[in-house]
Amino acid sequence: MAGKAWRQLVAVASLLSVLWLLPWASAIHRSDFPVSFLFGTATSSYQIEGAYLEGNKSLSNWDVFTHAPVSGRIKDGSAGDIADDHYHRYDEDVELMNSLGVNAYRFSISWARVLPEGRFGRVNPLGIEFYNKLIDSLLLKGIEPFVTLNHYDIPQELEDRYGAWLSAEIQRDFGHFADVCFAAFGDRVKYWTTFNEPNVAVLTGYMLGTYPPARCSPPFGSCAGGDSDAEPYVTTHNVVLSHATAVEIYKRKYQSKQKGLIGIVMYTTWYEPLTDTPEDRLAAERALAFSVPWFVDPIVYGDYPPEMRQVLGSRLPTFSPEERRKLGYKLDFIGINHYTTLYARDCMFSSGCPLGQGTQHALAAVTGERNGVPIGPPTGRPMFYVVPDGIEKMVTYIMRRYNNLPMFVTENGYPDGGEAGHDHAKDLLHDQGRIQYLDGYLTKVAKAIRDGADVRGYFVWSLMDNFEWLYGYTLRYGLYYVDYQTLERKPKSSALWYKRFLQSFQHEAQ
Ligand SMILES: *[C@@H]1O[C@H](CO)[C@@H](O)[C@H](O)[C@H]1NC(C)=O
Repeated sequence: MAGKAWRQLVAVASLLSVLWLLPWASAIHRSDFPVSFLFGTATSSYQIEGAYLEGNKSLSNWDVFTHAPVSGRIKDGSAGDIADDHYHRYDEDVELMNSLGVNAYRFSISWARVLPEGRFGRVNPLGIEFYNKLIDSLLLKGIEPFVTLNHYDIPQELEDRYGAWLSAEIQRDFGHFADVCFAAFGDRVKYWTTFNEPNVAVLTGYMLGTYPPARCSPPFGSCAGGDSDAEPYVTTHNVVLSHATAVEIYKRKYQSKQKGLIGIVMYTTWYEPLTDTPEDRLAAERALAFSVPWFVDPIVYGDYPPEMRQVLGSRLPTFSPEERRKLGYKLDFIGINHYTTLYARDCMFSSGCPLGQGTQHALAAVTGERNGVPIGPPTGRPMFYVVPDGIEKMVTYIMRRYNNLPMFVTENGYPDGGEAGHDHAKDLLHDQGRIQYLDGYLTKVAKAIRDGADVRGYFVWSLMDNFEWLYGYTLRYGLYYVDYQTLERKPKSSALWYKRFLQSFQHEAQ
């Protein structure tokens, strides 16, 4: 290319990249959302805290899983031992949030920090102290704490004693943990969620065997133990009833005094039928029902979804009258973690299901492509495509199925990064892909609200790059870049974009 043309191209490209940062370059503004709307960022304890042996914390299931002498579990062989060292740097991290101008922060409490031996031991005062300091630091900056009780990590003690979620005993332990947290923090915490993505925890832990406790059976995988056809349903039953136990405690002992709300957070993929046939349309509906309503129907309506009952019959447990009574406490809101959309194809009537997919029991096969064309621009993560319409459809689906219960988008974000050891910090800081993603998805959330959905908040996953489970530190979702050598945090272009978005009031700008 001739030098002059090249320079012009560079000039245009840099102008375009700067335009993304200007508030009026985007069609979406803070003023498109209600004044009381919560805007924040999200994280979870194991992914950011580190300090895994400090403050009298016990080992969690994730500490044990990542340290096990089994190769290939985590892509870069890493663990959350240090992660972002948030345990020591929480004050600095609250300051990062303050500089973004957010009014809320979603984080989770490490169960093993607060109750190292579950209900078989004492409350750990150092664990309580850490979260007290974090909560007070947030409130000092006008940032509302939005707290998840369980985001995958549990004390290993409960796994070793009775098999954790496989046993009904976990309901008592979770109730005790919740009670301790409401008592210690509920004077200041007004938003609680019981579980983060239990639909993912159960599928990965007990069907695919990829997360702790790594249980599965063929064709899903070859694990040391497990039964992929049965255990996901046993553990879901205990999760749903653990939720009900915690909500009953909150509603009977705390809510009238503390005046907070309690809900649950689900992982949501939107499914489009691969072809416009009744079979594929039903397959997409089944894939959805086997994901979100699997947990939320029992909580809201007292039983598993009819779509699941039809396929699984007696493999799904039933709720006893006492369990139904407890489920009557329901929830106050639904948290939606949403990232991507996939195609679903029928494999009940048509050709067989590909073996070992998470949607196999739903008799649906999922794919990211139709005739070789991806459903949206790809991201740094396999099977994660940019499809902004999906969030509007998902919110609308949940709105209709649950009579417009209040909703929060508790996670939405964009993964980039590369192989371990190849850190192109400069490119990663210049994250135009993330800006376009967030802009596109927020636009669709605003549209769903205009069309009547009761969405009350939105949290970007994540505040900063962190330990991304099986991907270790190779995938980055942060608005802040983390240099894992120095633990320095640096704002990406998207942090600046979010800050400017939060200051954008359409009428003032015009
Ligand atoms: C931490 O654990 C040690 C050993 O069990 C104990 O002696 C100490 O009192 C604990 N510290 C606090 C503050 O509970």
